[in-house]
Amino acid sequence: MNTFSSSLWKSAVRLIVMLPAVFLWNAALATEIVGIPPVSVPVNNIQTKQKIALGKALFMDRRFSADGTISCAHCHRPNNTFTDGLSIARGTSGLKGVRNAPTLVNVVFYTSFFHDGRKASLEEQAANPFVTPFEHGLKNHQHVLAVVREDPKYPGIFKKVFGVSVKAINMGHVTQAIASFERTLVSGNSAFDRYQYGGDKQAMSPSAIRGMRVFRRKGNCGNCHEIGWESALFTDNLFYNLGVGFQKLKPIFPARMKELNASMKENRSPNYDMLSDIQRAELGRFNVTQSLSDLGRFKTPTLRNIAVTGPYMHDGSLKTLEEVVEFYDEGGVSNPILDGGIYPLKLTEQEETDLLAFLRALTSPEYESGLSADKQ
Ligand code: HEC
Ligand code: HEC
Repeated sequence: MNTFSSSLWKSAVRLIVMLPAVFLWNAALATEIVGIPPVSVPVNNIQTKQKIALGKALFMDRRFSADGTISCAHCHRPNNTFTDGLSIARGTSGLKGVRNAPTLVNVVFYTSFFHDGRKASLEEQAANPFVTPFEHGLKNHQHVLAVVREDPKYPGIFKKVFGVSVKAINMGHVTQAIASFERTLVSGNSAFDRYQYGGDKQAMSPSAIRGMRVFRRKGNCGNCHEIGWESALFTDNLFYNLGVGFQKLKPIFPARMKELNASMKENRSPNYDMLSDIQRAELGRFNVTQSLSDLGRFKTPTLRNIAVTGPYMHDGSLKTLEEVVEFYDEGGVSNPILDGGIYPLKLTEQEETDLLAFLRALTSPEYESGLSADKQ
């Protein structure tokens, strides 16, 4: 079989496998968006219009917070490509967190959630922010349930969507509805998609087309930010150490490393007492696996809509795409466990310009207004 017919065959098989999900989802939506794969929906949380609308209402509701001002949308703003434009997110009473708020657009395609992948599903993730001190800042989830149960409208809607009485409403229902809403935040159709998958060879500028070549070859970007044959997620869902934030960890090398090492050998939890919250956050994937090779590793984020979702990296330390390209050109930040895929690229000025043009061609039409918007 030649590669073309083999890829056709693969699409046919995929279509059959995905059909139930596409059907439950929204057949029109799944076929109209160029460049993204079909959305799969867990069988135990199928999509319905009412559930999605309920999820959206919960996502926007500020009453679920210690000071009554913070909803999910506070940091994942619908009119700001579902992010907040800040380096580090701020929550209840203006408290500053430890990481950059990622966009939620196309979040459904990740296989794990948060920069360190510590949650396995959107349902699991959604319970967290309510009780994180520097996010919604609630003492416990009872506050969320009390608001829901006492609201004039919510109980009737939960009854319709989940068939539960007021008393039986629990956080499982709340997080299922929010996750359903998040699964609708899907976007493709960018200039790149129309060029690459839509057969419109005029969609990208010559500079962006050259930039795509830099992205795939000399820049090595596509190694982690993957572009597939039929669709592109710009992530491999894996974790790497680029050295971002390493400066904050430097003081703990090598003294604290001994303790981390010893704790692993002795099969006990490491003693984190000496670390600040920021330093703890910088340990990255290590916090999840407690494996030293995961120190400072973070999830490869999607690059869709990247021109409108700055500042960049898990700590928001790079303000512009120019800074990001410069960062990669210099080979990241040297540290004892820098990933092998990150090395000085020696890009020419033209190659840098082209690469930037390519990154800017990844914006979906519905978020293009953010390109000129005054971002705070
Ligand atoms: C105070 C700001 C803030 C609020 C409020 C907030 N988030 Fe986030 N969100 C963040 C930050 C920061 C991260 C990254 C945290 C990390 O990786 O440790 C994040 C990560 C996420 C992720 C993972 C995305 C990915 O790329 O893996 C999802 C999903 C998400 N938030 C959904 C929600 C939902 C749902 C709510 C409301 C229940 C919410 N967030 C409330 C700041 C916020
Ligand atoms: C070895 C894997 C790997 C390679 C190669 C790679 N990246 Fe990344 N990229 C990542 C990871 C992991 C992050 C997140 C790092 C962090 O948050 O600390 C990231 C973050 C980014 C971000 C910021 C995303 C955001 O939402 O904050 C941009 C932009 C980016 N990469 C573009 C590129 C470009 C352009 C290239 C090629 C020059 C490239 N990457 C090469 C893994 C990689």
